[in-house]
Amino acid sequence: MKPIVTVTNIFPQAALDKLAPECDLKTNDSGVSSTAEELGRMVSESDAVISYLTDKIGRDIIDQSTKLKIIANYGAGFNNIDVNYASERGIWVTNTPSVLHETTADLTWAMILGAARRIVPADRFTREGKFKGWSAKMFLGGDVYGKTLGVIGCGEIGRSVVRRASGFNMRVLYHQRNRLPEEEERMLNAEFISLDQLLRESDFITLHVPLTDETEYMIGNDEIALMKKTAYLIHTARGKVIDDYALVAALKEGRLAGAALDVYEDEPELTEGMTELDNLLLLPHIGSASFETRDRMALLVADNVLDALVGKTPRTLVPSYPK
Ligand code: DGY
Repeated sequence: MKPIVTVTNIFPQAALDKLAPECDLKTNDSGVSSTAEELGRMVSESDAVISYLTDKIGRDIIDQSTKLKIIANYGAGFNNIDVNYASERGIWVTNTPSVLHETTADLTWAMILGAARRIVPADRFTREGKFKGWSAKMFLGGDVYGKTLGVIGCGEIGRSVVRRASGFNMRVLYHQRNRLPEEEERMLNAEFISLDQLLRESDFITLHVPLTDETEYMIGNDEIALMKKTAYLIHTARGKVIDDYALVAALKEGRLAGAALDVYEDEPELTEGMTELDNLLLLPHIGSASFETRDRMALLVADNVLDALVGKTPRTLVPSYPK
């Protein structure tokens, strides 16, 4: 009998084709997230489960496993899975690093430019037929070129964002738990600085940290109070890193120039007041959403599953596993 591999939600065909000859594939093509009950059933009857970052796989679900070898998350983030418990139960957990950072950095830059130059409200204005001719004060925004960029979290995505900043002749500051090696800092032309200083000095602040106990709500009222009134906050990491209520209030009261969000505290719910703010650009969690990258992620997921099914350590275990 072939091993059972279950995919909790829609998944690129190229990866399904790679898996199909090796296993009995069970898919959910409805496009609707699997419920906790369905996830439990999938976990109980499968040798491998391919999960979405929206599937909450905690102790209750993991406890239903009978022969599960791997939970292969389709995403770089893995805060949706109780990794410690899975590992205690001898189940591998993998993610998709090193294949989506450039695409997510591209989106981050689209958001920086979009927020600063008010691209979305300007598009809306134009398509609504309100453009009646050039005017000196129409849709003024902030300059990006020559400004200071503050990057919080300088992992793969953060570093890709930094590399793009050189074309904009920016001063680049970064903050994270551990300082990068000197050589890397030199190559990136980035200056290590405390979080408070970064918040005080940056014109554009972009977040690239995973969601952990340490980063949950790392940006709230106190941190926003340190930022310049002319600053922009960009967020493509995980919603709960920012207190969205504090952000909405600051944008409403003009304590920040603007923000751009791809992720939300109560995703997919938006915080009250968000949709009324013209200085807030809103996206539906599309950081890695390019054709090429979603295929690359899925093929890596498939490789991890195939590794696990033949008893090999999967190639991209989440970082908390000892290598
Ligand atoms: C990830 O990989 O964690 C991203 O959020 C998906 O776009």
